[in-house]
Amino acid sequence: MAKGFNVAIDGPAGAGKSTVAKKTAEKLGFLYIDTGAMYRAITFAALAEGIDLHDGKALGKLLEKSELRLESSNEGTAVFWNGADITAAIRTNEVNSNVSLVASHREVREGMTAMQQELAKSKNAVLDGRDIGTHVLPDANVKVFLTASVEERARRRHLEQLEKGLPSDFEQLKKDIAKRDELDSTRAIAPLKQAADAQVVDTTSMGIDEVVETILDLVKEHSRQ
Ligand code: CDP
Ligand code: CDP
Repeated sequence: MAKGFNVAIDGPAGAGKSTVAKKTAEKLGFLYIDTGAMYRAITFAALAEGIDLHDGKALGKLLEKSELRLESSNEGTAVFWNGADITAAIRTNEVNSNVSLVASHREVREGMTAMQQELAKSKNAVLDGRDIGTHVLPDANVKVFLTASVEERARRRHLEQLEKGLPSDFEQLKKDIAKRDELDSTRAIAPLKQAADAQVVDTTSMGIDEVVETILDLVKEHSRQ
């Protein structure tokens, strides 16, 4: 089957990756693959099974023997682990604060990378994550690195919490986001980093639609090449 057209969107937490990737995929009629949801899913499952999160081998085994499935729709990405719907369960604070540790292990990253490459192969797809343009799909047709100030990213997450009617502490969110950025950027394997050939888009003062339009323009430009 012919190679698909792949759009890679990487960047730190709260940069707008999932919102923008989903909308861009919708506009293009492409598949959307939320790779962060995959790392969140194994983190949730490992916590539920009481597995030591420092034990890469045990986590790798857990991934191997489990079935992880993503279902993309207009409502977002539904996540299933061995058939159980864990879509809401992967967004808790407990998962937020442990996911970077789980995602730092070679055994976990190799398994996830292979699944992501298989999902994107021969499909037109938008993938968002931390290492898509650098590692998972180094030959992606379009690579975007989305970023925004920590202040603005924390403000977005804060608003999200308040809109859901949940308690939120802005200063704590800022600390948590900065900590996750630090862990993701300094890990040994496939760290969060801008690919040399990625287009950097600073979304600090950009609206969602403006960011989507910018990416659609890049896709247009690259489809002509
Ligand atoms: O949406 P948010 O930016 O908060 O995070 P996410 O995209 O759901 O990703 C959660 C975590 O998974 C990140 O902080 C990374 O530790 C890890 N991750 C990764 O290592 N590689 C990816 N391609 C995607 C996520
Ligand atoms: O996936 P990532 O963590 O990079 O960010 P997100 O979950 O897509 O976006 C975080 C929040 O920021 C969401 O509530 C978006 O609606 C909002 N957002 C925004 O206000 N302006 C943007 N340019 C992008 C996202």
